[in-house]
Parts: sequence; C-alpha cells; structure tokens
Amino acid sequence: MSANNQANISEVLTQTSKLSLDDTTSDLKKASSGETEVNTQKITPWEVEGAVVDGVQVSVDYDKLIKQFGTRRIDDELIARFEKITGHKAHMYLRRGIFFSHRDINVILDRYEQKKPFYLYTGRGPSKGSMHLGHMLPFVFCKWLQDIFDVPLVIQLTDDEKFLFKTGLTLEDTYKYSRSTVKELAAIGFKPEKTFIFSDLDYVGGAFYKNIIKISKSITGSTAKAAFGFTDTDAIGKVFYPCIQIAPCFSTSFPAIFGTKKDIPCLIPCGIDQDPYFRLTRDISQKLGHPKPTLIHSKFLPALQGSNSKMSSSVDNTAIFTTDTPAQIKNKINRYAFSGGADTLELHRLHGGNPDVDISYQYMCYFVEDDAFLNNLYNEYKAGTLTTGEMKQHCIKIVQEFLLEFQTQLATITEQNVEDFMNPNYPRKFFFN
Ligand code: TRP
Repeated sequence: MSANNQANISEVLTQTSKLSLDDTTSDLKKASSGETEVNTQKITPWEVEGAVVDGVQVSVDYDKLIKQFGTRRIDDELIARFEKITGHKAHMYLRRGIFFSHRDINVILDRYEQKKPFYLYTGRGPSKGSMHLGHMLPFVFCKWLQDIFDVPLVIQLTDDEKFLFKTGLTLEDTYKYSRSTVKELAAIGFKPEKTFIFSDLDYVGGAFYKNIIKISKSITGSTAKAAFGFTDTDAIGKVFYPCIQIAPCFSTSFPAIFGTKKDIPCLIPCGIDQDPYFRLTRDISQKLGHPKPTLIHSKFLPALQGSNSKMSSSVDNTAIFTTDTPAQIKNKINRYAFSGGADTLELHRLHGGNPDVDISYQYMCYFVEDDAFLNNLYNEYKAGTLTTGEMKQHCIKIVQEFLLEFQTQLATITEQNVEDFMNPNYPRKFFFN
C-alpha cells in the first residue's frame, strides 16, 4: 500500500486533541484571564475520560499518554523489525496504530530470535455475561501473537477485581461471568493445550499466592496511592488487588507450565489503561528475582457515539455486544454510530464528509484486512460520492459477518472445554521443567 493510504488509515486512529495533560491552570486564573477551560484527561484502570474543553469532552490524547506514562511509540522501524524476525506481515492493528505503544518489546523480539522461551499474559475483568467488541478485539490480536510466536498464554479473569470495584455485583455473579468469558475466549480460537485461563477466585493459592504475598510486601501504601489514586475511604481489598494482577507476570505463578523457572519473561498485550500495574511490576521485578514484563499497549475502541468516549458494558447503546443479533447490530449502527457526514445530503455531495470522525469507518479499520478497500471508502467519503448511509451499510455487513462467525463457534463450545482451559494440570504443549 502507498504511504498515503497508510497515513489515511492511521490518521483516523490517532486523532488526538491538541490539549496538554499538563494544562492544569487553576480555575481562578482561568476565570480572571478568560482562557479556555480545560480539565485534563483521566486514564486509570477504572476510568477512561478524555479532557474536557469548555464543557465538551474530547478524544483521548494518546501522544500525551506516551509522554506521561513514559512508554515508547511503536514506529515503522519497530514494525519492520517485527516483520523481519517473525517472517509475518504485521497485523493490521500494528500497521494501523491501534497497538501503538510499548515497553521493551525488543527484549522479546531478541529472545524470539535467540529461540529463548517467553509467554503471553493478558486478562479481563468479567463484569457481564458477554463481552462487547471493545473487549473482544484485543483478544483477536493476542491470538495472532500466540499463533506467530507459538508460546504459552495465560489469561487472568479478575472476578475478584470486578467484585471489589463495581457496586451491585456478587462474587457468584462475577464467577459466573468468568466461566462465560472462558466460552467466549474459546470461540475466538484459543486452544487449551496452549492456553491456561484462570479465575482469580479459583486459582489464588499455592505458588500463585506465594508470589502475591511477596509482591504485597514490596509495595508501600504510598506507592499504590500514587500509581492508582486510592484514597483512605477505599476498601482495603482494592489497595491489595494490584498484587493479584501483578503476580501472573512471574513465571513461578504457573508451576504446571514453567516448573520452578524464575527467568521466563512475559509479553503483555493490554489496553493503555492497564499500564500502571505493570509499570509498578517493572519497578519491583528484579528485587524479587524475576525479569521485567514487556508490554504492548492498545488504544480504546470508541463508543458508537464517537471517539471521545469508550465502549462501555454498562451503557447498552454505546456498545455492540457479542450476543447482538444481526438486526440489533443494524439498528445500533444506523441509530447511534456517530457520522462524519455533512448536515444534509446536498452539502455532503458538495463538500464531502469527514471519515476521520466517522465511527462506521473507524470500526471497519478493526475488521477489514484489505487496505485498498478501506482507502477507497475513505477517499469516496471525503469526496462526497459515498454517503453516510452507504458507509453504515458496509460497516453493518462487516460487523454482522464477524459476529455471526463468532456466535457459530460459541455454540460449539462445551462445559468440558471450559473445564480444560481452567484446569492448571491439563496436558499443555509447553513444559519448561
Ligand atoms: N484489569 C483488567 C480488566 O479490568 C483485567 C486484567 C487482568 C488484565 N490482568 C490483565 C488486562 C493483564 C490486561 C493484561 O479488564
């Protein structure tokens, strides 16, 4: 594809506001000077909010996050190295800047080159019986990573976290959601001989708990406060919880796979909001005798309403769920998908639309492999020859096909499959003893 095509696609996905996270001008000063009122963006594992400018919420500024968190951008040079070492064309999420940031990915690429072992670690907090597309797509990428690297994958289901951080959920609820999540992960195509999926509620104990408790001794209350913003009114379970999300970074948490080996590092694909856990892990790893985890961070899938909000399980009409029927998908996209079109068809034909803010176009960037097809849609929309209605039709068809395929797979998954994934001693392909 041409550099221009690539620019078009990634431009859409890297829309950033021009705001600075550091723009914390006091209200008083603003009031007296008549400046634009800016509330900075807030990205924590539990809250994702773009900055607010003059009362209007704007998109998350990912460039600022790279600076603020101190991560590295995934640039063309890194993508070229990735392709060279793995012998695979980079996944469209890498090419399109959806996975956009990293910590130390070269460490893992070096190990792959040297045929030294590593593993993948990711997770999900099950707050509902089914995922939405924003939850599912990072797993699609993770599956691709597992396929090309052929390494073990551990997936943590944080039913404990959701119980602690969400009101109104019982432990029975979140545990039930863990089990339905396993089914959904199986439908994405993970295999139990390569993948161990665990519920914290089941798995805490033994070697895993030994790591958890060692971690808890090496993090002070003030460090936790600074990293996560806990206050004195938060339940103490919340303050302790990070130790449980950190422990899977250490290979000794999984003796059935890695034996007692301490020196096997992991690669963690995750949303950028999860970075605080692993920044902290990297600070304490060496002291505890383990390698630092490597990270690769994704942007958020925007809500149907536009790129200044994130898909949310609790707000039904912001999200497309894995259980949605073709008719629901059609209705949601037609009714809610934010359009970059002009106000009237006449004006659209005259001046064209703005694909950079058009949600139907943005979603297709997550599903359509074919760069040339996407680029055509981009250019035609901009020229006004493609209408918003037509753009939506393309998106509806693509999302419907994707979810129909997923739902067909899901129907074949049995309780025994769930047991196999969740059994630490299931005979897995990789043993490091
Ligand atoms: N906290 C994550 C969530 O709420 C779940 C999670 C646990 C996770 N371990 C992880 C996500 C590792 C990414 C990587 O969804």
